[in-house]
Amino acid sequence: MDEILKSDRLTHLKYDIRGPVYEKSLELESQGYKIISLNIGNPATFGFDAPDEIVHDIILNIRNAQGYSDSRGLFAARKAVMHHTQNIGLPGITINDIYIGNGVSELIMLSMQALLNEGDEVLIPTPDYPLWTASVAFCGGKPIHYVCDEAADWNPDLIDLESKITDRTRAIVVINPNNPTGAVYAKSVLEGIARIAERHKLIVFSDEIYDRILYDGTLHYPIAKMVNDTLCITMGGLSKNYRAAGFRGGWMIMSGARHRAKSYIEGLTLLASMRLCANVPTQYAIQTALGGYQSIKDLVIPAGRLYKQIMLAYNRMTAIPGVSCVKPRGALYIFPRLDLSQFNIADDEEFVYDLLTEQKVLVVAGTGFNYLDKNHFRIVCLPTVDELTIALDRIEAFLESRRK
Ligand SMILES: Cc1ncc(COP(=O)(O)O)c(C=O)c1O
Repeated sequence: MDEILKSDRLTHLKYDIRGPVYEKSLELESQGYKIISLNIGNPATFGFDAPDEIVHDIILNIRNAQGYSDSRGLFAARKAVMHHTQNIGLPGITINDIYIGNGVSELIMLSMQALLNEGDEVLIPTPDYPLWTASVAFCGGKPIHYVCDEAADWNPDLIDLESKITDRTRAIVVINPNNPTGAVYAKSVLEGIARIAERHKLIVFSDEIYDRILYDGTLHYPIAKMVNDTLCITMGGLSKNYRAAGFRGGWMIMSGARHRAKSYIEGLTLLASMRLCANVPTQYAIQTALGGYQSIKDLVIPAGRLYKQIMLAYNRMTAIPGVSCVKPRGALYIFPRLDLSQFNIADDEEFVYDLLTEQKVLVVAGTGFNYLDKNHFRIVCLPTVDELTIALDRIEAFLESRRK
């Protein structure tokens, strides 16, 4: 029988967070090995529960959630997102500027499907959260990576960004706070991106799913407040700030020059209708999540669990000669750099593979985030201090075993 082939569109797509090394970890687990998995930013699997109030309100409303909703989302959920825009000082957002999705992931894909023609270019940071690159490529677009500068706390390099604009460029993607680097961008840099986008009439897509996971008093500036003369689309969701990744809830806010994007918005609405609606039980959690007490605050203060874990990982890694790391300001990750001249390690991929097979610790290589230098890796800092300490001990032992 002829082999059933996958679509050609998938040929160059990759998503290494659940890629071949992850498959190897599953194989090792099936052989009875216990793997410490530091590859996926999934809070629930590390004992982070969604706030009780969210779980309670979904249960309470489950009977009301049996039918499809409006394809853009339930009124109350969208109204809650609208109030959120008012609270952060973003004026003029109406309920029809807001779409609810099955997580930010679905909205990333949907927003690219509605936008791109064959060969259209989208500027994406390197390193990036790889779904952006994959979605652009899947939709026939060309991901063009602009540099985030490690020497400038991983802020985007505006000169590099602007130099990569061509007559095919349609949009700039911003991921702030950033996965994998933990950077939270400076206000002046965001202003710079907004001006570049306006000058070249590019859409700004801002993925702000970690906007409340901030350390050491770091402030987050929503770029939507700086973009007036072009379209801006901001995405947020329940997965990280509210530790409810499995509920698959996200939203998309359109701001700026919507009047010049009628056709695109029509396209977004059409695609949202074709998938009928986002899952409705989860939509009942959005109002509860966005209003009232924000329990994430307790986790990111110096006495908080997330803060202790991420700083432990940062301090331990930077104490190893030959390893450096920019201090994370937000999100759930550190992105250390290996000075490969000090170790018998060829590149990041060999590092993650050998670390897995020898020490049973799973991390993701920097190249999995479309980073060109093959000398970084990402650690998910969600395990408890005790479990993280075991993993960090093993990473250290592995590096010592490879030291030149
Ligand atoms: C930057 C970024 N955007 C989007 C997502 C996916 O979010 P969701 O769970 O809402 O689909 C992730 C998940 O790790 C992420 O890190």
